Amino acid sequence: MAEALDPKDTCVLVTGGAGFIGSHTVIELLQAGYEVVVVDDLSNASIIALDRIRQIVGDEAAARLTFYEDNILDRDAMNRIFAAHAVDRVIHFAGFKAVGESVKKPVEYYHNNIEGTLTLVDVMRQHGCKSIIFSSSSTVYGDPDKLPLTEESPKKTCTNPYGWTKWMIEQILTDIHAADPEWDVVLLRYFNPIGAHPSGLIGEDPKGIPNNLVPYVAQVAVGKLPAVQVFGDDYPTPDGTGVRDYIHVVDLAKGHVSALAWMNGKTGVEVFNLGTGTGSSVLDVIKAFSKACDKELPYVVKPRRGGDIAANWCDASKAEREMGWKAQYDLDDMCRDSWNWQSHNPNGFEG
Ligand SMILES: NC(=O)c1ccc[n+]([C@@H]2O[C@H](COP(=O)([O-])OP(=O)(O)OC[C@H]3O[C@@H](n4cnc5c(N)ncnc54)[C@H](O)[C@@H]3O)[C@@H](O)[C@H]2O)c1
Repeated sequence: MAEALDPKDTCVLVTGGAGFIGSHTVIELLQAGYEVVVVDDLSNASIIALDRIRQIVGDEAAARLTFYEDNILDRDAMNRIFAAHAVDRVIHFAGFKAVGESVKKPVEYYHNNIEGTLTLVDVMRQHGCKSIIFSSSSTVYGDPDKLPLTEESPKKTCTNPYGWTKWMIEQILTDIHAADPEWDVVLLRYFNPIGAHPSGLIGEDPKGIPNNLVPYVAQVAVGKLPAVQVFGDDYPTPDGTGVRDYIHVVDLAKGHVSALAWMNGKTGVEVFNLGTGTGSSVLDVIKAFSKACDKELPYVVKPRRGGDIAANWCDASKAEREMGWKAQYDLDDMCRDSWNWQSHNPNGFEG
């Protein structure tokens, strides 16, 4: 059973803490008083994100942050980190996340995401740490029969190796708890995180051409790409384009702080959807972003992409009921903060 822990007495190890969601979460954890140890191999992140985190939280909170540039697959390194810090809980973000790339590189994706998680949990138990929050995804619901998605909605077939890694890691962590009930497992199923920290100092910094809609739209807005590509306008949705539940990354980050507090004194495996509960179409996003950057963004309609579903959004009431967490920001806020980040950092952390 997870003990009741005060943030100031709690050391949280954050894998992938230099990445998009991880860096925003580290800020919220430091601001809530936690001691934070970040492990990230910087395979999809910049060391500058750590400097920006320190700048945002200030010297007092930054003193509670330790960073290790290490791969979670490196068992010796992980053992050294757990020996050096009395880690109470782990928030596990580290993994590869590009859906299209996962189809081309299944071996790399299964190795990094699954084997990485197995190494992590093995080292955790050797050091007596059995408390983990895992970054899962709405992708485990597959193509839904019924909306909104609740935590009881069935897990279905995934359409790509990335999705399967989430599906399988959820199962692995559930089995670990079944074998040893001392484990505390929280599976957070994120919907579509976008936006950036309101300071404009950190945000999403995809390498190459972005896969996801909002980073793509943001690059059209700064003139790096000519037009937004809209994949399919013949879905059974109000305007024919795909509908998703977008959530501000700061709201999502705060969901992890709420989950840590909620875990105090609990046992078991618990699933929470983290979304706003509102669906927005691709055209809604283009419109909201056009408003944020004060220019009409061009778009072209392309055929549907294989594996894309028409719509998903969640019922996020369980997180509100159980953890007292509810998203505060709406789509206009998300686009404003994405634009603030992108316009001040047109080349991401590179300047
Ligand atoms: N962004 C989304 O749309 C979304 C949606 C649902 C779930 N998720 C999950 O949330 C987590 C964080 O996503 P993100 O958008 O911040 O991605 P991200 O790529 O920005 O962050 C992942 C971080 O993990 C690091 N990393 C990868 N493999 C590693 C390894 N073996 N050892 C150490 N570090 C490693 C990368 O350098 C990166 O900083 C991921 O697990 C992702 O699958 C993301």
